[in-house]
Amino acid sequence: MEQTPQGQVDFWNRRAQTYPRYDDTPNSYTDKVISKIQAHGISFDSKSVLDVGAGSGQYTLKLAKLAKSVAALDISDQMLAISQADAKRLGLTNIEYFLKPIDEFKAPEKFDLVFSSMCPAVRDDPSRRWFLDSAKEAAIYLGFLDYVYPGPMPRLMERYQVTRKLFNSGLEMEEWFKKIGENFSRYELNGEWVVKYQRDEALHWCLTMLRDYGVTDPDRVFLDECLEPFKTPGSDEYVFKSPYFVDLLIWERKNSKLK
Ligand SMILES: C[S@@+](CC[C@H](N)C(=O)[O-])C[C@H]1O[C@@H](n2cnc3c(N)ncnc32)[C@H](O)[C@@H]1O
Repeated sequence: MEQTPQGQVDFWNRRAQTYPRYDDTPNSYTDKVISKIQAHGISFDSKSVLDVGAGSGQYTLKLAKLAKSVAALDISDQMLAISQADAKRLGLTNIEYFLKPIDEFKAPEKFDLVFSSMCPAVRDDPSRRWFLDSAKEAAIYLGFLDYVYPGPMPRLMERYQVTRKLFNSGLEMEEWFKKIGENFSRYELNGEWVVKYQRDEALHWCLTMLRDYGVTDPDRVFLDECLEPFKTPGSDEYVFKSPYFVDLLIWERKNSKLK
């Protein structure tokens, strides 16, 4: 994602409106991820946590319910505003928000745990080292192994001849750990994300995705035709399903060669 800093902020701000946010459905995707981390032996209880690229808070808020405190770091004011609104609604007061890119974030001290789900800024040697350096106990990274675009996107991408870009590769993070000789544990999480949108949200999502691939003025009749199969009959709701293959990587300082 080679864009100017403002270009990156705009990119994520455009996505905020339809990005997954706090969801209290039992056994949700985020619950499964957090359970996996706990089953590995990591406790959030009484811990300070840094959530890197925290977005609209689908993890931030759940981590805040478990931990002593959470610092939510992100460049997108629109994403953080959604997270803040949900935190207020839930009465969570142990989250501190930082509207900054990771390379401008100066933490007063290390965090017990550092967490990052799908943040494209953790992507090269300096940012990955910073990620580990910020953790006293453990750093938890979620990246993609694979992802299939949902709903009308495959048809739209074919029509506009755009090829999928896969950011946040879990395999690249694994390669990096191996290169620097650090031990890590890995878990593969597979499943299906199901998202329900009202018509304006479904349109916004498609237009935003296409725009990010350089398609700024798609044929609206064709777009409607592509959306139609995903409409729930008799309602204004569209259901998008996407299989996901996620890599959960856990690094613990006790095994570390890093000082
Ligand atoms: C794919 S979203 C993931 C959001 C959240 N972690 C989740 O899993 O729901 C990536 C997030 O990283 C943020 N981000 C991108 N570049 C960043 C940077 N340089 N510093 C901090 N956050 C950044 C974006 O604004 C966006 O909210």
